Amino acid sequence: MNNFDTKYYNYASIPLENLKPFIENYASPVFLYSRKSLTESFNLLRDILPPKFKIFYAQKSNPNSKILKHINGLGSGCDTASLGEMKSALAAGFAPEKIMLTGPSKSNEEIRFAVDNNILSVNVESVQELNLVNEIAREKNKIQNILVRINPPYDSSENTRIIGGTGVSKFGIDIEQIEIFFKTLKSCGNVYLTGIHIFNSSQILDAEKILSNTKNVIDTAIDLSKTYSFKVKTIDLGGGFGIPYSDNETPINLEKLAEGLNSLVSDKKYSRFLDGVDLIFEPGRYLSGRAGMYLVKVLYTKNSRGTEILLADGGIHHLLRPALIGQSHPAVNLTALFEGRKGNKKYMIAGPLCTSIDSFGENIDLTDTTQGDIIAFLNAGAYGYTESMPQFLSHATAKEIFID
Ligand SMILES: Cc1ncc(COP(=O)(O)O)c(C=O)c1O
Repeated sequence: MNNFDTKYYNYASIPLENLKPFIENYASPVFLYSRKSLTESFNLLRDILPPKFKIFYAQKSNPNSKILKHINGLGSGCDTASLGEMKSALAAGFAPEKIMLTGPSKSNEEIRFAVDNNILSVNVESVQELNLVNEIAREKNKIQNILVRINPPYDSSENTRIIGGTGVSKFGIDIEQIEIFFKTLKSCGNVYLTGIHIFNSSQILDAEKILSNTKNVIDTAIDLSKTYSFKVKTIDLGGGFGIPYSDNETPINLEKLAEGLNSLVSDKKYSRFLDGVDLIFEPGRYLSGRAGMYLVKVLYTKNSRGTEILLADGGIHHLLRPALIGQSHPAVNLTALFEGRKGNKKYMIAGPLCTSIDSFGENIDLTDTTQGDIIAFLNAGAYGYTESMPQFLSHATAKEIFID
């Protein structure tokens, strides 16, 4: 890819001119995050969602404090998955009633913190956890709101198993075993079940799939509410809104999604049930993914048995996804772009770690590259730095810069 004029990246998010200083004064690998891109992605989603849908940013996709503050300012809630994430959400200014705690293996300390801080909801993922939340809330003489996270029976069609998948899952309670949850709940006087949580899959680009998942989750809530006579106030539909990373992928058709969600919530079959119910989406990647790019410098070039290799100063200790799930991030040679160089080649781009998995991919199409060029990996804002392995080989950590 030679220029920014592609669907991968909103070129206006970080205008080229603003990138110049980072190229000229390049000192070390760096993640750049764009305020403008975050705002645009949030507003795009907010504008197409019917008002009863709330957005809770999935902090795990990028916990950078400036990103959190900005997203809080845009009116989002925050989905957290650890003590650290709850603390970061509070420090960024999210009100406790706009923070949820999810995760299959919450510690006693995490649950205590959530209860102490009046977090909106603890999303319970097992019967044992239900008992523990109840016990902690009783000790503190409080009633803690909970959602029950369910492992659904339907296919979630995730290409690379990240969070979804079918069958056995560490996430949530199998729907087939939900009766025992409701039986146990009867003896839990210090929790209040406000609804259900189902996360289907990540990186979905098909609007129809998001719609059918949404419908399935609402149907599940209706069934459970009837079978176990409880009033549903919240349905958490998880995240999963995808972004294109390559030419083979097309962005979500937002018009189709808007139309489908609007007709779903106004359909007579659902509208009565959904009256007064909050529907929550917890997107991570959709909000932060396109807002970030990772810059590295080519320290050496070499040819190994016919393959052109670029050896960069950054690697999978900062951006693990290429090695973890084969994610290919669109790459651009920024130096060549500024210098107006022409001509392309296929490269393997590898990092400094002593493992051959430290590679951003082979056959990466780039403008002819020379020693000292700066390469940008786009769409690196979600599950980039936060998901990497920064300790390996004791290299320096990456800088993170938030661009206003
Ligand atoms: C509970 C929960 N919510 C939200 C998300 C965000 O998913 P995505 O980035 O695909 O929107 C995740 C991702 O793992 C998750 O586990």
